[in-house]
Amino acid sequence: MNISQYLPKILFVGGKGGVGKSTTSSAIAVALSSGQNAKKVLLVSTDPAHNLGDIFDVDLTNSVSKINENLSVVEIDSSLEAKAYVDHVAQNMRGFVGAASYARIDDYFAKVADSSSTLEAALFERLTTILTKEANEYDHIIIDTAPTGHTLRLFFMPKELKDWSKTLLSMQERGGISEKVLGHLDGGDKNRFSDPDGFIRGQLIEKLDERYTRYSAFSNLVKDPRKCGIILVLNASKLAIAETQRAIQSLDKKGLKPYAIVLNKVLPDNSTDDFLTSRITQEAEYVAQSDKAFNHYRYVKMPLFKQDIISQESLELFGKGILENINN
Ligand SMILES: Nc1ncnc2c1ncn2[C@@H]1O[C@H](COP(=O)(O)OP(=O)(O)OP(=O)(O)O)[C@@H](O)[C@H]1O
Ligand SMILES: [Mg+2]
Repeated sequence: MNISQYLPKILFVGGKGGVGKSTTSSAIAVALSSGQNAKKVLLVSTDPAHNLGDIFDVDLTNSVSKINENLSVVEIDSSLEAKAYVDHVAQNMRGFVGAASYARIDDYFAKVADSSSTLEAALFERLTTILTKEANEYDHIIIDTAPTGHTLRLFFMPKELKDWSKTLLSMQERGGISEKVLGHLDGGDKNRFSDPDGFIRGQLIEKLDERYTRYSAFSNLVKDPRKCGIILVLNASKLAIAETQRAIQSLDKKGLKPYAIVLNKVLPDNSTDDFLTSRITQEAEYVAQSDKAFNHYRYVKMPLFKQDIISQESLELFGKGILENINN
């Protein structure tokens, strides 16, 4: 059976904390990239508390690392991305002010680089670059995300940022923003602003234009179920079911549906142990609730394994188990 036949090229994996998102995304990536029909796969972590390196037992960085011939992994480091971007802007700004203002500029941008919205924007910047510009190198890209709210924000970010880039772009094209944004920094060489079609404006327009095109491409990608899907992982618990239902409602408001739901860590029902039997009885109620709520989506139940799923064999087994059932 070809497990990747109908699978969208890009899969986001989201869900409540600890339910098995990193395991599910790693396992899917391993299953797709191994065996006879092996695909080229990139596994991306957007969770600031990365743990793909722990799963694969390698030191991962902000650059793409090859685990083997078919599988590559990257843990996006938002603070590194934000710092590089902000340093670049600060450097550009230095060209327009006197040396007396350098310290103020550096201080301001150091604060900007640490703010949560800058970190999120920097993460988004890198992710959209991977998904739109580097995607041709891979058959599949699997994205392991931080708990639910964060995943959904990534999904819904394009519209806000697209609108914002468009506004900036039209302001630039009308020729108003450089003076407004930069002109308040005193001690600068104001003559540099005398040419409205000057070098910097040209560069800014180019950058904004590239960003607008990239966000638009990402936004179209997210809306196309043949190319991109979201897998929501949950466990059989009241809180995880409620969180999954809320995530589905949020997606629904945007006209989107999850690609699939994975009910993970389901206890085996053949235990003779008293303690486990009692847990299984309680869990059965939540499994039934989950079945009722989600089985009209692609819905897969995965058992609790005896051990953590970190070996290549158990990841492949787990990943194949999900993909074979998703395609049923
Ligand atoms: N079906 C399973 N059977 C046994 N262990 C599992 C199963 N699924 C996940 N685990 C284990 O549960 C732990 C948590 O899983 P994982 O790190 O994938 O969750 P997560 O949703 O990514 O967590 P976080 O929200 O912290 O990122 C790991 O030790 C993992 O090996
Ligand atoms: Mg995780």
